[in-house]
Amino acid sequence: MSGEPAMTPPVLACSGIDKHFGALKVLNAVDFAVASGEAVGIVGPNGAGKTTLFGVLAGAIPPSGGSVRYGGVDLTGTGAAARCRSGIARTHQVPRPFLGMSVFENTMTAAQFGAGLSGRAAADCAAEALERTALLHHANRPAAALGLLDRKRLELARALATCPRVILLDEIGGGLTEAELGLLIALIGKLKGDGLTIVWIEHILHALLKVIDRLVCMSAGTVIAEGHPDAVMADPEVRRAYLGGAVA
Ligand SMILES: Nc1ncnc2c1ncn2[C@@H]1O[C@H](COP(=O)(O)OP(=O)(O)OP(=O)(O)O)[C@@H](O)[C@H]1O
Ligand SMILES: [Mg+2]
Repeated sequence: MSGEPAMTPPVLACSGIDKHFGALKVLNAVDFAVASGEAVGIVGPNGAGKTTLFGVLAGAIPPSGGSVRYGGVDLTGTGAAARCRSGIARTHQVPRPFLGMSVFENTMTAAQFGAGLSGRAAADCAAEALERTALLHHANRPAAALGLLDRKRLELARALATCPRVILLDEIGGGLTEAELGLLIALIGKLKGDGLTIVWIEHILHALLKVIDRLVCMSAGTVIAEGHPDAVMADPEVRRAYLGGAVA
């Protein structure tokens, strides 16, 4: 018997993803995969194509080439709404709540349209998402009245209310104080402990390292390194691309 660990089949994967915006080539033959229950971090300099990759995985951006598979099924031609219903949720780099709605209404809307629930089932799902994100006490406040940490929690609550299997977090840690960031890290760690599969783009490396099992570094539209976070951060190409002038 081999000493190699058995490969877990990926829950979400893409291969050979190209994306051009006109003449601008943003993604170039990107392969990516995340296993069920795994937490993967993605780092890379501004403009590396990280958010575009999330758009392709979530179905918001059609790739120019390549394929996306979820649970072994080819999803390349399906749109964002269908992917959300099948269990792929996403938070945005800039939180996008419906500002005129309450926290509960925002989360309920996600349960209705993202998970296809209605009535009592949608309300229960929304309440559970608010409880998991420590927002239940703000349920009746307008989303516009929330501070930044709570807006980020609401992004998470709206994603959770769609009953995801995989959650894509795009720079959710940005702009927070260290104390607030600690609370957010604990929350994301708990979601991982609950068995959720997490892919997290983040510039705040120390936050990422507290949660993730594996790190991927992108630069100029390609994956330049992936593996154990320590090995990836020690990779000379990563240090050049990601840390830039900060490394002598
Ligand atoms: N809709 C679009 N049309 C044209 N160019 C785009 C579009 N979306 C993204 N780009 C360009 O694609 C490149 C990659 O952008 P992307 O937002 O994916 O980078 P990123 O790695 O997420 O960067 P950041 O760390 O700043 O968030 C950038 O040059 C960006 O200007
Ligand atoms: Mg981005």
